[in-house]
Amino acid sequence: MKLTILLFAAFCASAADLPHVTIIATGGTIAGVQKSSTSTTNYKDSELAVDALIDAVPEVKDLAQINGVQFSNIGSENMNTSLLLRLSKLVTTLISNGSAEGIVITHGTDTLEESAFFLDVTYDMSAPVAMVAAMRPSTALSADGPFNIYEAVALASSKTAINRGVMMTLNDRIGSAVYTTKTNTRSVDTFKAVEQGYLGVFNDKTPVFYYYPARAYKKPFFDISGVDSLPKVDILYGHIDSDVTLVNNSISNGAKGIVVACTGDGSLPTTWKEIAKYWTESGVPIMRSSRTGSSYVAPGKDNLTLGEYSYLNSGNYNPQKARILLQLVLNEFGGSNSSLVQKFFDPY
Ligand code: SIN
Repeated sequence: MKLTILLFAAFCASAADLPHVTIIATGGTIAGVQKSSTSTTNYKDSELAVDALIDAVPEVKDLAQINGVQFSNIGSENMNTSLLLRLSKLVTTLISNGSAEGIVITHGTDTLEESAFFLDVTYDMSAPVAMVAAMRPSTALSADGPFNIYEAVALASSKTAINRGVMMTLNDRIGSAVYTTKTNTRSVDTFKAVEQGYLGVFNDKTPVFYYYPARAYKKPFFDISGVDSLPKVDILYGHIDSDVTLVNNSISNGAKGIVVACTGDGSLPTTWKEIAKYWTESGVPIMRSSRTGSSYVAPGKDNLTLGEYSYLNSGNYNPQKARILLQLVLNEFGGSNSSLVQKFFDPY
């Protein structure tokens, strides 16, 4: 009897010593269900509630004291700026009021990188935030969600993850919120940062980092504590025969800035140049990014022929991340000073 009491006391003491990790569930395939265990298509995403996600991985309770929050239950294609503003404030509140020492956010893969990037540039505390998702619904043979959640909790509760901001973890890899992007429609190995690489990997429950904590070069921070909405920024896609009148349509629909997923290293047809220059000089920046999926978009001859910064470039950011950064910059500084806006994208 005495031994049982002692063992129970030792168990309680060690469980109480574990860090507090809050799992915030937003939806996605990780919470998806399909009637057939052999099908990974046409499933219903965002079906399972946060408690079911946690119950599927009881092993997380050996890593941390877990608290679950159901933030939303939506496919990530339905994520939007107003939800992201709320999510970022929730993360900051949970860490600053001491309810959590680490955060896990479950999310759909489709826009995971956008939410991760948004959170990373609006969060400036040292506690780890691990964004996690899955490519296979929870009902699939070899569903990837449960192990991904286990590793995300391991990451969020690890001291070695402190001061690394927001990370993305799937498929045993840890990626930067700034650079990691979805590269494949089907594969569980879809998240990559082709140029910049991964931050680390897992050895069972232990995150193994390749680098000391680092911030992406010139990664900014925006205080959104008093912000309830952000300016609309659209993305247009570059292609043969691309129609420049879409720029005007977008602006008449309320866009305060436009990112173009241009061909190659940010090239645009000559038919676009006068309109892009006109709008950029009128305070609605038109920004060249690239549809290629990786690497830096250089300020090129377009900038030089049209005058310094009359035609902006997204530097290291892909179109979807550049769109978010442009929203935050426009919200704080407006679009009339294009060289100021450009400074947030210049990696030097
Ligand atoms: C989604 O992004 O919500 C659906 C797709 C996925 O999670 O893989």
